[in-house]
Parts: sequence; C-alpha cells; structure tokens
Amino acid sequence: MGTGSGFGKVILFGEHFVVYGVPGIVSAIDATNDAEVKKTAKGINVKDVRKAAKGYAEEKRMQQLESIDRILRAMGIDAKTVAFDILLGGALPGFSGLGASAASSVAITRAIAQEFGVILTDERVNQIAYEAEKAYAGTPSGIDNTAATFGGLLWFKKNLKDRQNTIEKLHIREPVEIVIGSTGVVANTKAMVEGVTERKQKHPEKYDALFEQAEALALIGREALLQFDLKKVGKLMNDNHRLLQEIEVSHEKLDILVEIARKQGAFGAKLTGGGGGGCMVALTPNQELQERVAEAIENAGYEVLRTRIGAEKT
Ligand code: PMV
Repeated sequence: MGTGSGFGKVILFGEHFVVYGVPGIVSAIDATNDAEVKKTAKGINVKDVRKAAKGYAEEKRMQQLESIDRILRAMGIDAKTVAFDILLGGALPGFSGLGASAASSVAITRAIAQEFGVILTDERVNQIAYEAEKAYAGTPSGIDNTAATFGGLLWFKKNLKDRQNTIEKLHIREPVEIVIGSTGVVANTKAMVEGVTERKQKHPEKYDALFEQAEALALIGREALLQFDLKKVGKLMNDNHRLLQEIEVSHEKLDILVEIARKQGAFGAKLTGGGGGGCMVALTPNQELQERVAEAIENAGYEVLRTRIGAEKT
C-alpha cells in the first residue's frame, strides 16, 4: 500500500489576484488530507471519507475523477493499464476555500507514486498537483498546490510566462492563532475564477486599480508579518476583504462571519480562498481571543477550525 499527505491552507493575502501574477501570502495549516492507494484487479475506485460541507462531495466528484486522470497523465501512467483503490481521509474538512482539492491531489500523487515505486521530488509532486488543480480551478495560480506540497508560510508569485513561480518561505517570530469559519456553502472555484476573468475584461480600468491595490497589500503585508506587527497584518487583511468584495467574490454569509469576528476583537478578518461561500479567516493572536471569536461563530450556527499560521512544521 502507498500512502501520502497534503496540507490544507489559508490565503492571508491575494486570492484571485494571484491568478494574474500578483503576489500572495499563504500559510499551511496543521490539518491534512491523507490518501492510501492499493493496487487491485480492476478499475480505479475512490472512497472519500473526509468530513465535508453538505453537498461538497457531490459537487466535486466529477472534478475529482478528472484530477486523478490528470495526475496519472502527468506521471506518464496509462490509466487503462492500472487498477487501484484510493481511500481519502484526514482532518482537513471539505469546506471550500481551505485548499482541500490541492491537499487531496498532493496526497493522492504521493500515495500512487509510493504504491507504483515511482520516486518523486517535492518539486515534481507540486507540478503534478498543479496539473490536477486545473480540474478544480480551471486556470489555477498554483498557490494551493504549493502550500499543500511544501507547507509553511509562503510568499507566492505566479510566473505568467510559464517559467518557475517565485516561492519563498517566510519565517515569523512564532505561530499565530487564527479562526477559520465555514459558511457551509459549497463553492465552485472554477466558476469563481471565471467570473473574475469576465468582470476584469468588462471593466479593465476599475480592475487594474484594484489589482494594483492587491499587489501593494501583499507587499506591505509581508513586511508587517516579518516585523510581527499583527495589528497591522489584521488591518491589511480587512483591506484585502474589501478588495475581494469589490471584485464580487464575497458572499453574504462570509460578510456575516467577518463582522462577527471583528466585533469579538479579531485583529482582522477576510474571506479566504475562492469565496462565493467557503471560508473566512480571522487573525486572533492568543488563545483567549481565538476562543472568544470561535465561540461567537459557533453560537451563530457555523462550524469553525481553531488553528495557527506560520508554524514551521506545517
Ligand atoms: O477555494 P480554494 O481553496 O480552491 O482557493 C482558490 C484560490 C484562488 O486564488 C481563487 C484560485 C487560485 O488558483 O489561486
């Protein structure tokens, strides 16, 4: 049997904008998707036992099958000549926005490689998972599979000329508590990314200005993180949420979660990932604040994850 894992992630700055080469900042979280792959006599079967938002598994099933097909193709394996079962689990839930698609693709890639005796470097795993991400996101930036493969807190910039992306590990003084709130609404990342592309084409001037602001936020956000000025990081996250509202990828439930988190004293809060539902991330340095924000969100009827950004081991 082959096994493999991939990290979940939160984007602190720059989702959607990264697709167009604007830099972004992402942190892996300590929840993973884990895959087991076992050769069998016939076909390729997937058993997905991950906890997920209602409707997530159904919404993603076709994309998941396509992603496995893409993984095999990228590995140079002819799908018709192999047969295996995949068991997919792990603590990272299928809530849109946390990179579960990329985490599962990384996990599956590693598990297939192990079961079939193929040696892959992390760089190669990342390339294969990027191909798989196309099934879920259409034209992905690569930020999710990069975080899922390497872990840590990362500065990411897509190279639009098909050359190597810029990936830099950022080291901060200590990990910082965050709260992730799930709207429970399953979103289609591909449709969200396409929506931005369409609106960007229709309103180039408005969007160019917003993209410039997103770039500035990522740059200042990076400095604030490195200086461990968490109040400033939080404020910049709030600014980033406003930009995401302006490109129309927020959702009424995301805005509600952001408001609850800010009211309870979160240093900042924004949607994270593709939006249109999915998840919100709130910066809540120290466990007391984390608990206060998490409980308020739970009391309002939403599910939460209490975790941290910037941990060196994730
Ligand atoms: O919603 P998620 O976890 O798939 O995150 C998508 C992030 C986007 O920036 C919207 C797309 C991408 O490929 O960068």
